[in-house]
Amino acid sequence: MKYPILFSPFELGSIQIKNRLVMAPMTRSRAIGNIPNELMAKYYSDRASAGLLITEGASPSPNGLGYSRIPGMYSPEQIKGWKVVTDAVHENGGHIFIQLMHTGRIAHPLNIPEGAIMVAPSAIAAPGKMWTDSAGMQEHPVPNEIPEAGIPAIIQEFVHSAKAAMEAGFDGVEIHAANGYLPMQFLNPGSNQRTDNYGGNYENRNRFVLELAEAMAHAIGKEKVGIRLSPFNKFNGLSVDENESAQYIALAEGLKKLGLVYLHLMRFTLPAGFADQMHEAFGGPLMMNGGFNAETAEAELEAGKCEMISIGRAFISNPDLVHRMQTGAELATPDESSFYTPGEKGYTDYKTL
Ligand SMILES: Cc1cc2nc3c(=O)[nH]c(=O)nc-3n(C[C@H](O)[C@H](O)[C@H](O)COP(=O)(O)O)c2cc1C
Repeated sequence: MKYPILFSPFELGSIQIKNRLVMAPMTRSRAIGNIPNELMAKYYSDRASAGLLITEGASPSPNGLGYSRIPGMYSPEQIKGWKVVTDAVHENGGHIFIQLMHTGRIAHPLNIPEGAIMVAPSAIAAPGKMWTDSAGMQEHPVPNEIPEAGIPAIIQEFVHSAKAAMEAGFDGVEIHAANGYLPMQFLNPGSNQRTDNYGGNYENRNRFVLELAEAMAHAIGKEKVGIRLSPFNKFNGLSVDENESAQYIALAEGLKKLGLVYLHLMRFTLPAGFADQMHEAFGGPLMMNGGFNAETAEAELEAGKCEMISIGRAFISNPDLVHRMQTGAELATPDESSFYTPGEKGYTDYKTL
């Protein structure tokens, strides 16, 4: 068989995944009213030949629904909707984690539900604009700073959401602490200018993520909680920090103590050798992402650089990516113009061979 390591099983906490090829989390904006639906169940279950599917970012709170038509994971309707998705994936022999994404300051009042508010570690607006369905492109407003006494409530939202995910039949959850959303807004000194226990130095800036991970692992089991980090990624207006390597190594060591089930890293922004340092500091399974194909994935696994590989864009346009890779078939190219548009087009209409 081609790519024997990529297509070999792996013990991921208490489940066995049938291969090491993971579908990376991708926001697709098909959740009308922030509730998962049958169309999403088809999209995910069509891709169940991946060893593991990680869903698009789903918010643990109304306050974290910063983008148009992204799903939530907190209400009874959302649990019901997600149950349809997990059942369909499991029926097709797949496994699925939900990515919990709280957008924090990357939001707009026109996108979040009535009564919700934008929250962030500091009252500093992200630069740039974002899409709103009702008024097109809009600047990011200044978010509300979370008071220190309000932090446990935010962590509780994630805990509630993780428990809701279990009720909805997920095999686990991934904490989205990458790409400039709320947890990473705590990590970064540009978006976090707090002077309390959650800011001021990198140990303090790591505190929110470590407390969050600990609370979630306690609630649903460490073997069901993975985390995504993107060190050195300045997406969504983050600032450069000279201590960034030391901060992330300390974070990985803290996560090691918690025994999370995997660490997911995007490699695009990493300095040479840094993924190896993170792998060692974390001590558990590493999932690498970023521009991999079957050859490069197999080589990375064979070199012992990581235990799993996640692929994003190729899974959008190739629901049968596993089969195509195994047979050396050509891959279809995804249509970027339909990444975030509502409906079936560019979502569930890509053909299998
Ligand atoms: C349409 C689209 C939506 C994405 N949404 C998310 C997301 O919700 N959460 C996340 O962590 N990454 C998200 N990403 C990043 C992907 O997970 C992945 O890191 C990226 O596509 C690079 O991997 P690839 O080269 O295999 O595509 C998104 C990427 C794309 C193309």
